[in-house]
Amino acid sequence: KTVFVLNGPNLNLLGTREPHIYGAQTLADVEQSCRDACERHGLALVFRQSNHEGELVDWIHEAGRLHAQGGLAALVLNAAAYTHTSVALLDAVKGTGVPLVELHVSNVHAREAFRHHSYLSAAARAVLCGFGVHGYVLAIDAIARW
Ligand code: DQA
Repeated sequence: KTVFVLNGPNLNLLGTREPHIYGAQTLADVEQSCRDACERHGLALVFRQSNHEGELVDWIHEAGRLHAQGGLAALVLNAAAYTHTSVALLDAVKGTGVPLVELHVSNVHAREAFRHHSYLSAAARAVLCGFGVHGYVLAIDAIARW
């Protein structure tokens, strides 16, 4: 089965973006860690990042088609700022029925109030935040045991 890992806006800046919050690892480093984790579990990986909401919607639909064929292990989604704004991403998850792990590098609940609400959590099977970029590996290790 395949794990989809989708990353939203500004996550292409990981490594240089507010490193005191998001750490020093780049998105390429995160992708490599995800590849290693998937390989350990015999899972395939699709790993992408977009700054565009509609492109993320399209990719969730793509994951949904794979889900309908029985080929999706789970969708790990770090929707970044869209977490707090996007009904479209919520509807895409609900409309496709993909098993969702909502992920955040930082502990959003310890930050500004506008980060405390997530449109996605209501449709998520699991929510993981505050483990830094290691959260991606934790998510994949957990998905492998589902
Ligand atoms: C984030 C948290 C969001 O509030 C923020 O807008 C991001 C990244 C995280 O991974 O901690 O861009 O999703």
